[in-house]
Amino acid sequence: MDGAVPREVDVNVPNVARMYDFYLGGKDNYAADREAAARVLEVAPQTPALARANRAFLGRAVRFLAAEAGVRQFLDLGTGLPTRGNVHEAAGEAAEDTRCLYVDNDPIVLSHARALLAGSDGVDVITGDLRRPEEILAHPRLHRVLDLDRPVAVLFSSVLHCLTDEEDPWRTVRVLGGAVPSGSHLVVSHITDAEQEEAAHAGAAVYRRASSEMTLRSTAGISRFFAGFDLLEPGLVPLPDWRPATAAWPPSGRLPTWFLCGVARKP
Ligand SMILES: C[S@@+](CC[C@H](N)C(=O)[O-])C[C@H]1O[C@@H](n2cnc3c(N)ncnc32)[C@H](O)[C@@H]1O
Repeated sequence: MDGAVPREVDVNVPNVARMYDFYLGGKDNYAADREAAARVLEVAPQTPALARANRAFLGRAVRFLAAEAGVRQFLDLGTGLPTRGNVHEAAGEAAEDTRCLYVDNDPIVLSHARALLAGSDGVDVITGDLRRPEEILAHPRLHRVLDLDRPVAVLFSSVLHCLTDEEDPWRTVRVLGGAVPSGSHLVVSHITDAEQEEAAHAGAAVYRRASSEMTLRSTAGISRFFAGFDLLEPGLVPLPDWRPATAAWPPSGRLPTWFLCGVARKP
């Protein structure tokens, strides 16, 4: 990676955002991130394909919400580093007048997103930690972008497994999901703890020394994130199976099924 490193960044600790960037073929990563990612690839070689499938799911969900569900506001929590197919771009392609607030606790994500978004209307990025959802809701810049009296899509794409059970990600979702009105939507993608999936467990073990741990959860544990919301068809499913663009794409059989996703509507 080129350019100045923000002072608060420790490039010697493998970082979840930068490892994910590496899986997606990005350049915003350092040696420690690449070494840890290489260890994940040794035990879970499907990881880059799953990262791409997760981005594809997120794009389909956002386009569906903007084009078919009439949602115009997006709150993207745990934004990450991707440079293409970002939420505000997918939403903007599907509908006019969409607004988007990005939230992440990683300083590199923040500086990267600020550069990417310079001059964009109705889009902003703030520092926020999902372990303190009330602070996110109280952030003045959130209210400059989003009107919480109108429906908002609250996106938790591949991020809730960065919180441990003790950090209570269910409370995080309850607080943020509770702050938006009827007609709002919840989007979740999450790694599962299917016992037989050694690759998922071995990959997660590498994250014990990274900036965040990776907590695998049961299907029941992931379903609980949707409490109070109505899960839309096709329910909580493996990434490629959520409303694929064409019936034949991509064949879900080729990807592991230990990454689940779903979209739900607040009644
Ligand atoms: C695997 S990336 C997912 C990126 C994007 N949402 C996607 O699905 O492509 C996880 C992101 O969540 C962020 N993250 C992890 N823990 C967080 C926390 N406690 N609060 C806010 N962001 C967090 C990381 O910095 C990283 O950018």
